[in-house]
Amino acid sequence: MTILTHACTPVSGQKPGTSGLRKKTRVFMEPGYVECFVQSIFNAIDGADGKTFVIGGDGRFFNAEAIQTILRMAAANGAERAIVGQGGLLSTPAASHLIRKRRAQGGLILSASHNPGGIDADFGLKYNVSNGGPAPESVTAEIFEQTRTIDSYKTLDTDDIDLGELGKTTLGDMTVEIVDPVADYASLMEKLFDFEAIKGLFQAGFDMRFDAMHAVTGPYAKAILEDRLGAPEGTVLNGRPSVDFGKGHPDPNPIWAKPLVDMVMAEDGPDFAAASDGDGDRNMILGRGVYVTPSDSLAVLAANAHLAPGYKDGIAGVARSMPTSRACDRVAEAMGIACYETPTGWKFFGNLLDAGKVTLCGEESAGTGSDHVREKDGLWAVLLWLNIIAVKGQSVQHILRDHWKEYGRNYYSRHDYEAVDAEAAAALMTALEEALPKLPGQSAAGLTIKEADQFSYHDPVDGSVSGKQGLRITFDGGARGVLRLSGTGTEGATLRIYLERYAPPEGDLDIETQDALSTVAAAVAGLADLQKRTGRTKPDVMT
Ligand code: G1P
Ligand code: ZN
Repeated sequence: MTILTHACTPVSGQKPGTSGLRKKTRVFMEPGYVECFVQSIFNAIDGADGKTFVIGGDGRFFNAEAIQTILRMAAANGAERAIVGQGGLLSTPAASHLIRKRRAQGGLILSASHNPGGIDADFGLKYNVSNGGPAPESVTAEIFEQTRTIDSYKTLDTDDIDLGELGKTTLGDMTVEIVDPVADYASLMEKLFDFEAIKGLFQAGFDMRFDAMHAVTGPYAKAILEDRLGAPEGTVLNGRPSVDFGKGHPDPNPIWAKPLVDMVMAEDGPDFAAASDGDGDRNMILGRGVYVTPSDSLAVLAANAHLAPGYKDGIAGVARSMPTSRACDRVAEAMGIACYETPTGWKFFGNLLDAGKVTLCGEESAGTGSDHVREKDGLWAVLLWLNIIAVKGQSVQHILRDHWKEYGRNYYSRHDYEAVDAEAAAALMTALEEALPKLPGQSAAGLTIKEADQFSYHDPVDGSVSGKQGLRITFDGGARGVLRLSGTGTEGATLRIYLERYAPPEGDLDIETQDALSTVAAAVAGLADLQKRTGRTKPDVMT
């Protein structure tokens, strides 16, 4: 077996975003593309020599091929060991757990998360560091720097290895360990949650559906919900991972998981329903007749986490991304714990979790998680909800209403304008940013502006500053609008407008969400000159 050094030229546009590098699959398939990026990762972390890496992905088209390339390159770059999920599968949270458990130096996770898969859809690759979390900005910046100067990569002259067979093999001098992708993760869940109580729930006839959306969580959900917790067969829907996610969009929200939502909104629907995304880090929570917004879910979980064995001593603090609703702030205040506001992207939670400042964290984009790993975790959120339901003996609807009656309700919705002309979107943001200082005191759509600023985050742990993280406008009475451009879109620009309005416990808790937010939506659209600048009159997606 020979180590080959191939010349390569910098590939423009290999800039890792909030969740690694995401591009069209065909771009990743171009000769040298994966190689250039992977060598840039190895160069950015001072080489792979003697290191252990966890490698796996969400099973989308090109997953297995990219893994073979990465394995050859890791071996050629001197890595000591690669721990790979059987069949090339590892959910993002399971990969995070394996990195931590096996004390690996890092992990390469192949996924474009909730984006569709297939040769004409999306692919992605991200690097996670030794705490199990996404690489911080210092590392992604170095990776990007490497992609601009790289001139060669190293690989081995070998055949593919069999990713389907459990056990150890060697590739050059590197040991490749093919592991069961589910086992370690399932054991971790068993430690955190009261499996006996949840089993009792299912024995008593509690009816649940989990939609794996043809993506990676199928095998995890079957092993945990059906095999270990005794939920009847058929509880897990679309449980077999497929390379194109059944031609669907593996994004657990009311639009892309509509069949599940319709099922649970029916009068004779299941008691509880949930879904996860392509790589298993996002979640959607539903009860009969009710959709729980991710922001509300975080707040309810924070208020009730102590009911699960893994959190019985209480939680140290909570963190949410800036655009996430401020529902959890009220819980934190009542509990006398800190609530941190971070930029969008899971990597910003890592330092807070590592420093023990927070136990739970979440984002409005259906990501919730805790200090058990360093990624958001879809199934974890589902199991914590199940644990809470089992202990309280109440329905999702009941738990949510009680929560609002205690803390008030933060009406919340995100409006996405997709594939907007990139220049027009950038101009809109610049113009609004420039106008911010003179906004306070002005009125828009009948609302008076209280504060307006560009969010900049000062990391309390390492002192780093991340600027330009979104424009926020708050109005008298507690309504808020936030604008930012997506860092994960693959076509044009995606403009996200996050809308929120607070109703106190004694206020009206039953308004339809979009109705409750229509005034603040109009105010923000006016201030941003939305229609004129983008040509759009309504959002493409409302979550
Ligand atoms: C989106 C979400 C963000 C999440 C990220 C990765 O990023 O908004 O909360 O962390 O995907 O899953 P965006 O496209 O908004 O940059
Ligand atoms: Zn994801």
